[in-house]
Amino acid sequence: MQIITEPALMQATAEKLRLHRQRIGVVMTMGALHEGHLSLIQQVRSVSGTVILTIFVNPKQFGPDEDFHRYPRPFDQDAAHARAAGVDYLFAPSVESMYPEGFQTSVRAGSIAEGFEGMKRPGHFDGVVTVVTKLLQITKPHTAVFGEKDAQQLAVIRRLVRDLNIDVEIVGAPIIREKNGLAVSSRNIYLSGEQREAAQVLYMGICHARREIEKKRTDLFGIANEIERMIAEEPGFRCDYVAFVDDELFVPAETAEPDKKYRLLLAVYAGNVRLIDNCLFTA
Ligand code: PAJ
Repeated sequence: MQIITEPALMQATAEKLRLHRQRIGVVMTMGALHEGHLSLIQQVRSVSGTVILTIFVNPKQFGPDEDFHRYPRPFDQDAAHARAAGVDYLFAPSVESMYPEGFQTSVRAGSIAEGFEGMKRPGHFDGVVTVVTKLLQITKPHTAVFGEKDAQQLAVIRRLVRDLNIDVEIVGAPIIREKNGLAVSSRNIYLSGEQREAAQVLYMGICHARREIEKKRTDLFGIANEIERMIAEEPGFRCDYVAFVDDELFVPAETAEPDKKYRLLLAVYAGNVRLIDNCLFTA
């Protein structure tokens, strides 16, 4: 595995790979690699001759009160995981090389990015689509895999490549969970043992929704309220939002229409730690 830190060198390397007719697959991350990230690498490996992993904690997608400075950066451990997972190139640029002095152009996400994570984290998705556009230009992949864990991000990125005619296939990958159902996340390390155990309530909420929808209940608003109550009963837990949305537009859906797809979105504070999860249902 080769580690590259210079955007220009990564871009020249990707261009050379393309000239040699290599199919390039990319997985973009902010590091602190876990099972979720590794599953994306496996997925992209199955369709690519060359795998590029990017690790970049992107300051532009963090709000002023968010955890940019304390975000975990265990680089040596990440590089070992990447090597073991069969990554060919690890691209890990500095902030200065991605946003050098004079940088001033950015991409703005549209209406899919307005609600939920976008509403709670102003500017977040503009930061995401800007860095994803840059990383796509630098790594020149045929395929890029993103996790459904961040379902709104995935929808925003699918829209980005359609709207800006970016020639890449975007693939969504399923959510990897811990044994108790908690979605694996780099931020789970902030949870105490007790909070981690209690955090299975999010998955219990998803299971509740599954049972109710299987019974052909259509009042999505009512189901979401029941899940909110389940979560609020857990000491120290507070809901940021629990809602069903139309899966493509990310607008709230109150009543289900037969055979349509809806996504349940959850954002919950366990103490100070913000957890997100989601699940797709067919009514
Ligand atoms: P990060 O949070 O590091 O996540 C990198 C990728 O891993 C994303 O596509 C995310 O959806 C996926 N992922 C995280 N947890 C997962 C899980 N439990 N199961 C499956 N996939 C999971 O998302 C970002 O970084 C950034 O916003 C980025 C796209 C890199 C742009 O900076």
